Amino acid sequence: MESYMQNVTVVNHPLVQHKLTFLRDRNTGTKDFRALLKELSTLMAYEVTRDLPLEEIEIETPVAKTKSRVLAGRKLGIVPILRAGLGMADGVLELIPAAKVGHIGLYRDPVTLAPVSYYCKLPTDTASRDMIVVDPMLATGGSAAEGIRIVKEAGCRTIRLMCLVAAPEGLKALHEQHPDVPIFTAAIDSHLNEHGYIVPGLGDAGDRIFGTK
Ligand code: PRP
Ligand code: URA
Repeated sequence: MESYMQNVTVVNHPLVQHKLTFLRDRNTGTKDFRALLKELSTLMAYEVTRDLPLEEIEIETPVAKTKSRVLAGRKLGIVPILRAGLGMADGVLELIPAAKVGHIGLYRDPVTLAPVSYYCKLPTDTASRDMIVVDPMLATGGSAAEGIRIVKEAGCRTIRLMCLVAAPEGLKALHEQHPDVPIFTAAIDSHLNEHGYIVPGLGDAGDRIFGTK
């Protein structure tokens, strides 16, 4: 196993793989694309939160007193990277409705492929939360790495990255810059093409969500 794969979890659940196939399909229109992306995000959130700590509390059922477990530890936050990450936020909120939501606006320069920052608004208590950065595409890794850098700069020390389609190039770059950040993805694709698009990928996620092409 390549060393950059140490922090990577590929979510192979059949429902995830099934929905991802239709997300990739060029014949899937905007409405279905949005619905699939939301459903996939909820399913992925289940895996991303699998290791959250629990503590026992005492409760009383209608039948007896008992001890039962509830979430412990720091509260959660979600940070979608605009634009495409926006399509994932609601799906995650289905499972974690009390999470605070930050937004980071980044786009890739079409020539250099470097991320260009245009917006950032994070919860004021970001430093004391566990944050899940969400963006469906991890191509060169530049956008995710910059998003994570910004969240770290705000003081957060526990960050997970949730994407759907990752290129090996992006996984490697992200591991080099943020080896402490676990990455959850539904697929690792073949490679990047000459325009920095993931092959086979699903095309431009932002354009497919918002119908801008
Ligand atoms: C897409 C995608 C990621 C980025 C991935 O955003 O949503 O943020 O590209 O590529 P990278 O790993 O090489 O940085 P894009 O720049 O197209 O902006 P958009 O979401 O506003 O369309
Ligand atoms: N951004 C996308 O939306 N798709 C890709 O394949 C690469 C970057």
